[in-house]
Amino acid sequence: MKIKKLICFINIFLFCILLSTANTFAVEGAKGIIKERMDKFKESKQLMKKINVGLQNDNFKVIEESAQMLLLWSKEMPKFFPKGSDISPSEASSDIWLNPEGFNEAIKNFELASLDLINQSNTNDRDKTINAFRNLAGTCKGCHQKFRN
Ligand code: HEC
Repeated sequence: MKIKKLICFINIFLFCILLSTANTFAVEGAKGIIKERMDKFKESKQLMKKINVGLQNDNFKVIEESAQMLLLWSKEMPKFFPKGSDISPSEASSDIWLNPEGFNEAIKNFELASLDLINQSNTNDRDKTINAFRNLAGTCKGCHQKFRN
């Protein structure tokens, strides 16, 4: 009886180890530049949330600072998409490299919308800033529809 119990524990123990390593592999699936840009996009999502909260509190300083970070990211973004980096688990569409002008245009739209949000937040005008925020969110979505699987 005791031995049976022990074997049962050992089995559970081994099963847990198996599970945790499987999980590690999944997390490590995205490597190098792909992992870096995924992290950058996750950060973009957080920044958009921060801007949204800033709009509710009329905190134009937070909005401007977050938009500055997005502007910076728009300028770096092309470097994060080297040819052939549409490898699983990346969701990058191969259209990024088949239609480089279209992709650059989508980045440019994002850059200009970030810049506009910075400028509007400096006016401390709530409605104008909300509009600029909506336009910016539209450039995220626009690019995803065309260039994200
Ligand atoms: C010019 C194109 C483009 C713009 C602009 C853009 N994205 Fe993306 N986004 C992508 C692509 C391509 C991927 C897929 C990257 C990959 O998996 O390799 C992606 C992935 C993501 C992801 C998933 C990241 C992950 O963990 O896999 C999030 C979240 C995201 N974007 C949010 C945003 C937000 C928020 C904005 C705007 C503030 C934005 N993106 C603007 C192209 C864009």
